[in-house]
Amino acid sequence: MTHPFLTLDDLDLDGSKVLVRVDFNSPIDPERRDLMDDTRIISHIETLRALKDAAVVVMAHQSRPGKNDFTTLQPHARRLRRHMDMPVHFEDTLFSNNALRRIDELESGEIMLLENVRFYSEEISLKGDAETLSKCRYIRKLAPHFDIFVNDAFAAAHRAQPSTVGFIPHLPSAAGMLMERELTVLGKVLSTSQKPSIALLGGAKADDSIRIMENMLGNDIVDKVLTTGVVGNIMLLAKGVSLGKPSETFIKKHISKSDEILEKGRSLLEKYKDRIEVPTDVALNVDGTRRGLTVERLPSEKPIHDIGLDTVVHYANEIEGAGSVIVNGPSGVFELPEFAFGTEELFLALSRSKGFTVAGGGETSAVLTRMGLKGEVDHVSTGGGACITMLGGKQLEVDKALRTAKQWYEEGRYH
Ligand code: 3PG
Repeated sequence: MTHPFLTLDDLDLDGSKVLVRVDFNSPIDPERRDLMDDTRIISHIETLRALKDAAVVVMAHQSRPGKNDFTTLQPHARRLRRHMDMPVHFEDTLFSNNALRRIDELESGEIMLLENVRFYSEEISLKGDAETLSKCRYIRKLAPHFDIFVNDAFAAAHRAQPSTVGFIPHLPSAAGMLMERELTVLGKVLSTSQKPSIALLGGAKADDSIRIMENMLGNDIVDKVLTTGVVGNIMLLAKGVSLGKPSETFIKKHISKSDEILEKGRSLLEKYKDRIEVPTDVALNVDGTRRGLTVERLPSEKPIHDIGLDTVVHYANEIEGAGSVIVNGPSGVFELPEFAFGTEELFLALSRSKGFTVAGGGETSAVLTRMGLKGEVDHVSTGGGACITMLGGKQLEVDKALRTAKQWYEEGRYH
């Protein structure tokens, strides 16, 4: 099959020095400071094994500055070691003289994971296209030490950041095997979706979800959006429901530009009144115990930690009767067993749906794995924001850059 981007089959990898951008961003246990789930690590094993005759340097991020789980990639290196039958080294810097020396000395058949790329502030602060980002200091330092760049980080493919697109103007660049599969399968979903099609959008990355909701509805990719989790709470606020201090403070504290997002939510509700659903009841966390409350009886001084039973039943019916379903993000604080109910029931409904089902997001995939339902969903994407950005009809930044890389390769730019 020919792709609009280069794949591992197109390049001579043996004996070369390859830089691979992966997405190892994983849930972290706050006490043990260790990974709670290694689905994201496992998703890249196929690509890393295919590079067994090259010297492979791996670059990745964990969370974002300011978050509790913004931490070193040391535990990720330990997990990777368990899955690879080749030496896996860890370098606790990104482009120090020591790192550059170790990269030069790395031999074919060895892997070295570099430290969290977001420890270096330009990774997040610099904006622009691949050409602009290729001028970033650490990219200019690292690029001359490699022969090939492989981007396998599908889950970060909606971000134009130095590590995701900045190496592309410097090095022949290909999609890794995970990237290749995700772009291909999700591309097919976009062209063949069965009606009625619905999206269930939840989780805490409400900024991504609200922006994408607009694309999905505006481009008629889905007929209806069901909102849950923090996204659902923001849409309730946008509807004029006051949630109560703990839930509103959470949104202000954890969602960047929450006022702007709320405003966007309001205009979406106005424009697509009958196509966006919000929860009709919620579950409060009353000193660790679940208590249901209809939306009419809000606000509450207790935090909302899940959707309520009526909403679960109604959404589950919609999911089971749909021709295609896209699910992204949990419905509540699923890490606490009392509040995993909404998430688990809706994922069970997804597994029963006769329609074509796609699930996206690290947390979604982790819960589906834990519930043993992964095999019941047609495509479980490793991407959250990336998956719904693409299914919202918007080209992913990395897809765009990799297509340009193929043109440049064919025109001889890298020779
Ligand atoms: C994800 O987990 O969705 C990706 O790793 C991207 O993370 P980000 O939203 O912090 O860029």
